[in-house]
Amino acid sequence: NQNILQDLHGRNHAYLRISLIERCNLRCSYCMPEEGVQLSPKSHLMTYEEIFEIAKTFVKHGVTKIRLTGGEPLVRKDIPIILEKLATLPVELSITSNAVIIDKFIAVLKVNGIKKINVSLDSLDREKFKHITRRDEFQKVYNNILLLVNEGFKVKLNVVLMNGFNDNEINDFINLTKNLPISVRFIEFMPFDGNKWDKSKMVSYAEVMQQVNTNFTEAQIERLQDAPNDTSKNYKIKGYKGSFAIISSVTNPFCDSCNRLRLTANGQIKNCLFSSTESDLLTTLRAGKPIETIIQKAVQAKFKIRGGMDTLEKLQEPKLHNNNRSMITIGG
Ligand code: GTP
Ligand code: 5AD
Ligand code: SF4
Repeated sequence: NQNILQDLHGRNHAYLRISLIERCNLRCSYCMPEEGVQLSPKSHLMTYEEIFEIAKTFVKHGVTKIRLTGGEPLVRKDIPIILEKLATLPVELSITSNAVIIDKFIAVLKVNGIKKINVSLDSLDREKFKHITRRDEFQKVYNNILLLVNEGFKVKLNVVLMNGFNDNEINDFINLTKNLPISVRFIEFMPFDGNKWDKSKMVSYAEVMQQVNTNFTEAQIERLQDAPNDTSKNYKIKGYKGSFAIISSVTNPFCDSCNRLRLTANGQIKNCLFSSTESDLLTTLRAGKPIETIIQKAVQAKFKIRGGMDTLEKLQEPKLHNNNRSMITIGG
């Protein structure tokens, strides 16, 4: 099928991550430098009509899952219209949010068929939360997570682990899953522009499992079946309502089963989280020309592993991959 977005390594791309906005209401240090980032001029950002047009083209080429990211996607003023438009497409629509203001959007999320929400939360301690996000919003986020669960959403927590900062909370996070039907995902800290990554700050998959193995017996820990194209290795403690998982992009990348493409808020395709090149869809769309060829070319140019950052040496040099992009303008 010519229409399918298959790359030269046999991978099909059915999952599109759309970054809606470069701004955020938090300032997480692993995501952006303290001084902030250079924002695209507003005229360079996709309008909701353009987002819809581009998404439609991807759907025509086999995309069945769209995840909205940012920055913080809910900060975008026209988010209700964006959701309403995208909800008309035959895709599973989901969102990754910091949940600070998500209580205002429960109805609009439900009406538009959103069932799964991934929430970033790196600490259960208010002071630590304030330290990492540079904002004092822990209580709001925590309450909103409980609200989402009560409202029936399937919630995953994204916990970026950092050595000496929150690695002592692994057990507290797992204990949260005792009574809450959520999935807590521990994420290996990845290097991006301006986030001062250092190997020594990263907590690896192996280290997380070491801690789990000291706190629980082998008989208590169950390895779950991972969903196809899952970013995470999933586990649960027997008898607990929720589960936990590890996303090991650094020590054990899952590129073999990658099915993702990314669209940045300024209308560029990134064929990988770590790609050093981008393909400009928006300019072509605005010129009234078809964007299909650009999408196919971007897919064909996709590297087998991490945008060509096949060694740790290359990965830890953000200038080699994302040029001047911090995570905040990639969307994870
Ligand atoms: P699900 O749809 O629930 O599987 O979500 P997800 O894991 O695809 O997305 P989410 O936005 O929750 O991201 C969780 C973490 O996985 C973040 O740290 C992302 O940067 C990372 N991540 C998501 N997609 C990819 C990917 O394709 N490659 C790599 N290396 N990391 C990814
Ligand atoms: N390393 C790993 N994960 C990150 N995220 C943001 N920055 C990083 C990083 N440097 C995660 C956040 C967010 C998701 C989209 O990406 O946890 O939930
Ligand atoms: Fe896909 Fe790139 Fe992530 Fe590997 S690093 S899983 S190729 S997006």
